[in-house]
Amino acid sequence: MNRAGRPGGVRRNRDADWNAWPVADYLAENYRHLHPCDIGVICHHSAFYRQFAPGSIGRSLEFGAGPNLYPLMLASAASRHIDALEPSTANVGYLRDQLARGPDDSWQAFYTLCRELDPGLPETPAEALARVRIVPGDADDIPEGAYDLSSMNFVAESVTEDFAEVTALCAAFVRSVRPGGYLVASFMERMPSYRIGAGPPWPACPVDADAVGSVFAPLTAELKINRLAKDRTLPEYGDTGVLLMTARRPDS
Ligand SMILES: C[S@@+](CC[C@H](N)C(=O)[O-])C[C@H]1O[C@@H](n2cnc3c(N)ncnc32)[C@H](O)[C@@H]1O
Repeated sequence: MNRAGRPGGVRRNRDADWNAWPVADYLAENYRHLHPCDIGVICHHSAFYRQFAPGSIGRSLEFGAGPNLYPLMLASAASRHIDALEPSTANVGYLRDQLARGPDDSWQAFYTLCRELDPGLPETPAEALARVRIVPGDADDIPEGAYDLSSMNFVAESVTEDFAEVTALCAAFVRSVRPGGYLVASFMERMPSYRIGAGPPWPACPVDADAVGSVFAPLTAELKINRLAKDRTLPEYGDTGVLLMTARRPDS
């Protein structure tokens, strides 16, 4: 039995073909409209970023950026340089296109909300994304302590069925920042492996606030975990809501 109580082998991160990530279907299901859970994540993350004066963060990381542009936009008031780390060639292709051509019109509503909540953001989404560099690669490629701030949205729990691997991905996320560095993250709550559109199942590990706390409490300081109610405007992914986290890597 795996942690989700299903018989058979646990699907690990390397067992999924991330290069085949269904970008168009994922965007259509999650990010072509501003859903209540996006508003919740943006409100939470904006409050986190507002503690920093514009331009006061030298380097920040988006860990497993996928095709989601709003975390990159949110980072652009505080951060002078933003690295979008992403292993999937499909997602890297979408990100490169968005940076080259300018973001799809559907991102404007996300940006309007981000800028309402953080007036330090540049005037346009294109200016915000000008600070972003795409870094093809995965968690194993992150240099230790290279960043002042790291953000991770729907990655550690949404890319493996193995709780030990979730823990290792979260540890890599914490190690990506220097001692004293800042962390902000979101997690699907209790989401089992899921499908996007009519595609194959993608591996996920159901986590709740206690599980996220048990992973981060030994590794971080100033840990805070909040949650958002389940968003019923999204497809049924089997989750019970979203968990939101902020913390710092302890000073050494
Ligand atoms: C559920 S998607 C979330 C994408 C995006 N962060 C968002 O907010 O929508 C999971 C992402 O994690 C990436 N990923 C998978 N394995 C990874 C790994 N080992 N290290 C970093 N990212 C990984 C996938 O390619 C995908 O973009």
